[in-house]
Amino acid sequence: MKILIVDDNNMERLFLSTALKSLRYDIFEAANGNEALSIIDSQNINIVISDWMMPEMDGIELCQKIREKKDSGGYVYVIMVTSRSEEEDLMRGFEAGVDAYLQKPITIKLLNVQVKVGIRIINLEQQLNYEKQKVSRFAHEMETLANQRAEQLIHSDRMATLGVMAAGIAHEINNPATFINGNIQTFEKFWNIIKERLSAQKISDNDISKEGNRKTTQSKIEDQKLAFIIEEMPSLIDGIRSGTGRIQRILNGLKSYARQDSPEFIKYDIHRIIDDALLLCNNSLKYNITITKNFMKNIPSVRCDPQQIEQVFVNIFNNAADAMDKISKGHINIITTHSLRNDIKSLIDKPDNFDQNDNPEYINQINALDNNNQIIVIIEDSGPGLSKEALRNIWNPFFTTKPVGKGTGLGMSISHGIIKSHGGSITAENRTKGGARFIIRLPIYEVD
Ligand SMILES: Nc1ncnc2c1ncn2[C@@H]1O[C@H](COP(=O)(O)OP(=O)(O)O)[C@@H](O)[C@H]1O
Ligand SMILES: [Mg+2]
Repeated sequence: MKILIVDDNNMERLFLSTALKSLRYDIFEAANGNEALSIIDSQNINIVISDWMMPEMDGIELCQKIREKKDSGGYVYVIMVTSRSEEEDLMRGFEAGVDAYLQKPITIKLLNVQVKVGIRIINLEQQLNYEKQKVSRFAHEMETLANQRAEQLIHSDRMATLGVMAAGIAHEINNPATFINGNIQTFEKFWNIIKERLSAQKISDNDISKEGNRKTTQSKIEDQKLAFIIEEMPSLIDGIRSGTGRIQRILNGLKSYARQDSPEFIKYDIHRIIDDALLLCNNSLKYNITITKNFMKNIPSVRCDPQQIEQVFVNIFNNAADAMDKISKGHINIITTHSLRNDIKSLIDKPDNFDQNDNPEYINQINALDNNNQIIVIIEDSGPGLSKEALRNIWNPFFTTKPVGKGTGLGMSISHGIIKSHGGSITAENRTKGGARFIIRLPIYEVD
C-alpha cells in the first residue's frame, strides 16, 4: 500500500512518516500540492494524508484536483489532517472529496485505524473494478456471440431460401430442357435425311439448273451458301447438344442440392464406397494421378446412405482431378481410420513427394477432435490447394473458381449437406506443402 504524506511542515511530515514506516507501509512525502500531484501520478499512490492548511494550494484544493483526475490507477483515499472541528468546515471538505479526517493532535493509534479503513475501502473498490471489468468483458463476448449467431441464422436462412429457389428453378427449366433435348435428336435425324437429299440433288444437277440452262452467277452463289449450310449444320447441332447437356448437368446439381429426401441409413463398409467412387472417377483420374490407399484393416462399418456418401467422394475426387489436370504427376492419398492410432502420423502425406513431417500440429488436432464413435476419412491431393477465397466459400452453393460451363459450384455444398445429414462433419484445409486435404467423419454403425 503506497501512502503519500503532504505537509509543508517538515516536523509534522517526519512524525507521520516515521509512524507509518514503523507500520510497514510504503511511504512517500511531498512538501506542497503540486509536488503531491506529480507523485500521485508517477507512483500510483493509494492513500493521501494531507495537511489542510498549506501555502499556495491547501489540502481541500489538492483533494479537488485529485478527484478531477481520471483515476486510471484506481481510487485514491484522502485523509485530511486538521485542527478544525466546525461542522461547516468539515462539510466543505467532504464535498471536495475528502474521505476522512484526522484531528490534531494526531495519535498513532487513530492514524493506524484510519489507514486501515482506507485500505479496506481501496481493496473493496479494486475488487469492484475487477468484477466490473469481468462483467463488461462477458457482455462484450456475449454481444459478439449474439452477432455471430445472428449472422449464422441469416446465412442458413439464405441458404434455405436458395435451396427452395434452386428446386423451383430446376423444376421450371427441366421441362423445356427435356423437350429441347428430345427435339434436337429428332432434328438431327431429319437433318441427315435432308442433307442426303440435298447432296444427291446437287450431284444430279451438277452444273445444270432446273430450267436446263447453265447456271447463272446468282445461282452459283446460292449453291455456295447451301454448301456452307450443309457443312456448318453438324457443328451447330453439336453446339446445341453440348449446351443442353450442360443445362442438364446444372439441373442435376440443383436437384441434388435442393433434394430434401432424407438419407436411408444402413450398415456399410466405407472402403467399398471409396472403391466404388474411385471406379466411377476412373476416367478423370487414370492418366496422371496415382492413388495411395492407407485403409485401416477391420475398420468398423459406418451408418450411412452408401449412394449419398459415394456422391461425396466422387465430388472430392473430381475436384482433385480438376485441380491437378495441369500437373503431369499428381497424387491422391486416402486414409481411413477410426480412433487415433500411433501410426496415423506416418500415413498422412506419405506418398513420394509428400513431406512426411508435414504438419505435426495437424495430427494433434485430429487427436483432440477424435471420437471413438466416428470413422475418419482423409483425402489429400498434391494439387495447388484451395485459394483463400475457396477456403472461405467452399461450402457455399454456386461457389466455383472454374470457367463457366465447367464448374457449377454445387459439388462441395451438396457434399456438406450430405455429411451433415449423416451426423458427421467435413472440413477442408491446405497441406503446408501445397495441395488440399479433406477430412470426413462419419458415425460408426452401432447396434441399438
Ligand atoms: N482439391 C481441390 N483443390 C483445389 N481447389 C478445390 C479442390 N476442391 C474444391 N476446390 C475449390 O472449391 C470450389 C468449389 O468446388 P465444388 O463445390 O465442387 O464446385 P465446382 O467443382 O463445380 O467448382 C472449386 O471451384 C475449387 O475452387
Ligand atoms: Mg466439383
